[in-house]
Amino acid sequence: MDSLLIEGGIPLRGTVKVSGAKNAVLPILCSSLLTEGTCTFSNVPALRDIDTTAALLRFMGATVELNAPIVTVNTGSVRVPEAPYDLVKQMRASVLVLGPLVARFGRARVSLPGGCAIGARPIDQHLKGLEAMGATITLDHGYVEATCDRLRGATIYFDMATVTGTENLMMAAALAKGRTQLIGAAREPEVEELARVLNKMGARVDGAGTDIIHIDGVDTLHPIEHAIIPDRIEAGTFLIAAAATGGDVLVENVVPEHIEAVCQKLRAAGVYVEREERGMRVRSAKSLRAVDITTAPHPGFPTDMQAQHMVLMAIAQGTSVITENIFENRFMHVSELQRMGAEIEIRGRSAIVTGVSKLEGARVMATDLRASACLVIAGLIAEGQTEISRVYHLDRGYEKIEQRLSALGAKIQRVTDRNA
Ligand code: EPU
Repeated sequence: MDSLLIEGGIPLRGTVKVSGAKNAVLPILCSSLLTEGTCTFSNVPALRDIDTTAALLRFMGATVELNAPIVTVNTGSVRVPEAPYDLVKQMRASVLVLGPLVARFGRARVSLPGGCAIGARPIDQHLKGLEAMGATITLDHGYVEATCDRLRGATIYFDMATVTGTENLMMAAALAKGRTQLIGAAREPEVEELARVLNKMGARVDGAGTDIIHIDGVDTLHPIEHAIIPDRIEAGTFLIAAAATGGDVLVENVVPEHIEAVCQKLRAAGVYVEREERGMRVRSAKSLRAVDITTAPHPGFPTDMQAQHMVLMAIAQGTSVITENIFENRFMHVSELQRMGAEIEIRGRSAIVTGVSKLEGARVMATDLRASACLVIAGLIAEGQTEISRVYHLDRGYEKIEQRLSALGAKIQRVTDRNA
């Protein structure tokens, strides 16, 4: 297992270009199951989750050529509409094949994802929606089995805004007979991006980006070429890393509207964040102020930026309250930050962070993707050396992170444990 060694205390300076959005690519690769023929996607990052999705599509019989940033997928030869446990346990987003498989083949067998480090994360909303569209759902030895003749349009009320739930049902509805309405849908930019892709394929999706989406089902969809939007969470992570280290960084390839909630909080903390022609420039203030956040579905403050904001608050002046409303267990980074000298107390769904003048390097362990990003930022600002183990979490969502941070002046290197 690899670890990262970081020598802290160096302000980041320079320019960094944001990669394509992981959470947009994953459903889009799955949407290729709705077509026969070759889809070509560009601006695809080289990430472990993309490798896992490719492995999953190949398991089913698809041909996938991964040549980041270009990926081609041909699902014409898919014969096994199944997502096995071994792949789903590596990446819960594998459940995104469920909707497209039932829509195209009339059957799917997908391992239940189970809980994960940040919460229980059930998929009841995905299943409820497919049942409303006429699928018969059974649970068998840890697998969801869905069958139907042809899905038919339905009106589905979500109990909560679910990103992959909305995506799964949007893909299923694209080939259903008649009109589907998704009410209380997730509004994330990745949902909008998937709708753009489906419409390019010939689907009739309207309203993505709002909480009511209409989909008029069509009989067939055709393959497309598409360039993926930039990753707003990666962009936000670089902005916070620059601000926390007292640096000056231009983050290129950003859609400013996608990260407005994060930028507003940075500005409230006293950080200079400006739109420039090529991206967002961040310059840190002399001193950082404490700013509260509450995570919420888009366009609110994203849960995927909560851990990174917390490390900034760990060295801000004053006390901030960070409330996590999306996942019930997304404070795993707190105990690691405490080992580095942060003053944080967890009270139910909130973390009370009292800023300290400095963090100290320590050996810490990454527990999930965004917690890992938070620990990297902590290592960049801490006094002395930080060693982060289990960085495979980071490789799921940040492309070549140590190389890109090194290019901004950070002292960071990957150490491969050859005995592991
Ligand atoms: N939920 C249910 N039942 C469902 C679906 C969701 O109870 O059927 C609950 C979840 O347990 C959670 C809330 O609803 O409490 C929202 O979960 P959502 O379904 O929106 O999460 P997701 O679709 O599984 C995606 C991202 C996550 C991101 C969340 C929230 C992908 C592949 N994953 O997950 O990204 O945190 O939306 O924005 O798009 C990450 O990239 O690090 C990551 C975890």
